[in-house]
Amino acid sequence: MALKAFGIDFGTSTIKIYKKGQGIVLNERNIIAVADRKNVIAIGDEAYDMYEKAPSNIAVTYPVRSGVIADVANMLTLLNQFMLHIGGGKRLGTSDYIVAVPTDITEVERRSFYELIMNSNLKVGHIKIVEKPVADAVGAGLDVMTAKGVMVVNIGADTTEISILSLGGIVLSKLIPIGGNKLDEAIKNIVKRKYNLYIGDKTAESIKKKLACAIPQVEASAKVYGRDVVTGLPKEMEVSSDTVYESIQEYLYTIIDSIKMILERTPPEIASDIIDSGIYVTGGSAKIFSLDELIHKETELNINICPEASTTVVSGLGKIMEDAKLSSLASPLKAKTFVN
Ligand SMILES: Nc1ncnc2c1ncn2[C@@H]1O[C@H](COP(=O)(O)OP(=O)(O)OP(=O)(O)O)[C@@H](O)[C@H]1O
Ligand SMILES: [Mg+2]
Repeated sequence: MALKAFGIDFGTSTIKIYKKGQGIVLNERNIIAVADRKNVIAIGDEAYDMYEKAPSNIAVTYPVRSGVIADVANMLTLLNQFMLHIGGGKRLGTSDYIVAVPTDITEVERRSFYELIMNSNLKVGHIKIVEKPVADAVGAGLDVMTAKGVMVVNIGADTTEISILSLGGIVLSKLIPIGGNKLDEAIKNIVKRKYNLYIGDKTAESIKKKLACAIPQVEASAKVYGRDVVTGLPKEMEVSSDTVYESIQEYLYTIIDSIKMILERTPPEIASDIIDSGIYVTGGSAKIFSLDELIHKETELNINICPEASTTVVSGLGKIMEDAKLSSLASPLKAKTFVN
């Protein structure tokens, strides 16, 4: 074991890094700004400030999509830079790394997380993989080592991962390509259709944080700025919570349908555990108002929205690193022979 160890959750919208013995040391937008296809001009939150504002020679992009590494070169640059930042500008000494990876992905996608670290500038001791739902459940404070089954639903930015766990392993897991980004897109589309107003992703996200509610709520509204579709001029408008609800409800019901599908496939003994403990909801999008009420209404189960919803995965990696009793939850990537 190396002296230092880091746990990394490569989220689609934010990357979170835990340093053993210290806690969460990085929680930034997983985004990079590159000028003229070669010069990195900003990373993380600083690059996010440039998003939708940069001139055409500057590309501001997210290298992780739908929970998997879609742009390896830029993710590698980001990882190197973020780790340099954590080291206070100095290259870190040999360290161990544990990475959370979604369960419902291909072997090649899973391997790419491992290879990313191997191919970085980092001095690497051991690399271990933890199934994301396992890290999530540990981070949510659940005891995953017992035979009592638990259900965790992580609603992130690009994905929702619905999982049933028992005895430290995954009984069922499904990754669906719906998360906060789809809700932002739905808000953008309805504002354009109803108010003839173009708004950006950042504005849509901020409206969502203010007004998105999973059940129809007392009327509220928020001011938004955008560009008039007809005149092309900047314009200010009020967007109502009804409109936001109308745009997002279809996606919320798709998530609930997948939760129901997993529940239907859950072995009966585990199902009775879940009736007992309820469903644990994590991920940044768990903060949508009244989401617990809607899921409860549809499933008749108790719903626990985790308080630190967006960092449960990385906190779980932290606990797995710190607590020797949990170390068996992290495993080296199994060597597989690829035959062409
Ligand atoms: N208060 C809030 N209300 C609604 N949505 C929120 C709130 N705060 C954050 N979000 C949403 O949570 C999402 C980010 O959550 P999280 O950090 O769990 O995602 P991620 O790990 O980057 O993505 P993924 O798990 O899909 O790879 C974003 O879509 C963001 O808009
Ligand atoms: Mg996530």
